[in-house]
Amino acid sequence: MQIQYRDASPSDVSALRRLLQELGYVAGEAQVLERLDQVRSQGSNIIVADLEGEAVGCVHVLVEVRLAEGCAGEIVSLVVTGPLRGSGIGKALLEEACAWLKTQACPTVRVRANAIRHHAHRFYASQGFQEIKTQKVFTKALGEPLLETISPTD
Ligand SMILES: CC(C)(COP(=O)(O)OP(=O)(O)OC[C@H]1O[C@@H](n2cnc3c(N)ncnc32)[C@H](O)[C@@H]1OP(=O)(O)O)[C@@H](O)C(=O)NCCC(=O)NCCS
Repeated sequence: MQIQYRDASPSDVSALRRLLQELGYVAGEAQVLERLDQVRSQGSNIIVADLEGEAVGCVHVLVEVRLAEGCAGEIVSLVVTGPLRGSGIGKALLEEACAWLKTQACPTVRVRANAIRHHAHRFYASQGFQEIKTQKVFTKALGEPLLETISPTD
């Protein structure tokens, strides 16, 4: 199996949409395209595993600077399509992401995995990641969705 690892491009949008669905996130192609553009303009990176022109895995990798913790790389949205799991693609995507972070002079890399993703926890442990803490994540909507604030005649 000949896999190539490269930066994502707009032509990957429908494959990325499917991969995100496998991860449990539903988004339309237009949304994924817009986010791809935003991610790149913010200076972070999305790398895909390309099998014969089709993205079969992806990882979003970003650099964060926090007041308390300083600079760290973060792995988000790492997923390999179901039928190809267990064949080394996830490991290779992780290595590509870490190599990119080194080019950004990032001293460490972290990943947050949902507590229910037990397979992912074992995968990260097998790749040398150490569990350092457990967190609860809180969220709150800021304002009403745009559509609800516009009257049908607007
Ligand atoms: C987690 C995931 C990205 C791993 O990718 P993968 O291609 O299946 O993993 P690989 O084949 O590259 O495995 C690499 C190594 O991890 C180990 N590994 C992978 N899954 C494992 C598991 N469930 N338990 C223990 N070890 C595991 C492999 O044995 C292999 O070990 P090696 O380096 O000694 O050879 C993939 O399974 C996936 O997409 N899962 C669903 C989405 C998800 O949970 N993403 C993480 C979100 S935080």
